[in-house]
Parts: sequence; structure tokens; C-alpha cells
Amino acid sequence: MNPSNMNPSKKAAGTGRRGARVNQVSLIFDSLSENEAFARMAAAAFIMNMDPTMDELADVKTAVSEAVTNCVIHGYNGGPGKIYMTCRREDDVVTIEIIDHGVGIEDIEKAMEPLYTTRPELERSGMGFAFMEAFMDSLSVQSTPGKGTRIIMEKMIGREAAMDEAL
Ligand SMILES: Nc1ncnc2c1ncn2[C@@H]1O[C@H](COP(=O)(O)OP(=O)(O)OP(=O)(O)O)[C@@H](O)[C@H]1O
Ligand SMILES: [Mg+2]
Repeated sequence: MNPSNMNPSKKAAGTGRRGARVNQVSLIFDSLSENEAFARMAAAAFIMNMDPTMDELADVKTAVSEAVTNCVIHGYNGGPGKIYMTCRREDDVVTIEIIDHGVGIEDIEKAMEPLYTTRPELERSGMGFAFMEAFMDSLSVQSTPGKGTRIIMEKMIGREAAMDEAL
């Protein structure tokens, strides 16, 4: 068989629109606090070949950790459920989507205010969304009460290192 027929898109593997370098990985895991470490390490492993700086690595790990903790504590209220994480790379931008099918958020704007928490009794400080916003380049929160929550975060990776080298 002609090898070009085996790849109907005729694009080289790992390339997308305009020849962008793309890669995508999806994970589904149980809503357990032990899986927060798993998710953050998986996201760190995903961006590893984007040549991240140590700061970028730490930022992504913190953001994923906050998002997954929210699914476990708030979305599923410590009960059973599935968490869906997709990491997508397009050139030097990573997009991380984290979804739960838990209780959802009534007032997203209020929930995103720094220091706002609905669980002060659990000694939450209400800083999770503020950290995600600070450590990533963009954060989008979509939620439907009773249906669940979707977090989409983006960050450019590797540019800082390249700029440091150029100086
Ligand atoms: N996945 C989610 N499902 C339902 N509610 C959520 C979810 N994520 C966040 N929330 C709501 O948004 C509020 C703010 O979240 P945020 O992460 O900023 O603070 P926190 O989790 O309360 O405290 P911290 O993250 O500092 O421990 C939460 O108290 C909760 O009410
Ligand atoms: Mg939180």
C-alpha cells in the first residue's frame, strides 16, 4: 500500500493547522484527593517536551492541583465521581481542561473573587481560582448548577527560557 494512503489527512503526525505542532492527551480518573498529585504530575510530564522553565512547571502544577482539588472537595463534595482532564499543546501554548459532573457553581463571578469560599469550615482560603488566574495566562470557568463545571486554562510555555538565553 502507498504509505500516503494510510494517513488520509496527509499531514505529518503531530502537526495541525498551518503545520502547528499539536499533541493532545486525555485522562479520566476517580475523584480522590490522592489523584490530585497524579493529575499535577501528568500535566507536568505533558509539558516537559515544550522545554518549560522551572517556574512554568511549578505554575502549571499549582493550577492543575487547585482545579482538581476543587472538583474533589466542591464538585463531588468528597463523594464518588469522575474527573476528566485534557492537556492540549499547539506550538508553545498548552491548554488544560478539567471537568467534573458535580454540583456546579451558582454564581461564577462571586466564586472567582479572591478569598471567597463556600467551605470556610474546611479551612479553605478561597484562593484557588485566584492562583489559577495568576499562574496561567488565561482562565475560563463554565458551570451549570446540578450538572458540573469545566475549567479551561492556557499558558505559553518555553518562551521565557528562550528570551533569557537571548539576553
Ligand atoms: N469544581 C467546582 N464545583 C463546584 N463548586 C466549585 C468548584 N470549584 C470551585 N467551586 C466554588 O468556588 C469557590 C471558590 O473556589 P476557590 O478554589 O477559589 O476557593 P476554595 O476552594 O474555597 O479555597 P482554596 O482553593 O483556597 O482552598 C469554592 O468555595 C466553591 O464554592
Ligand atoms: Mg479551591
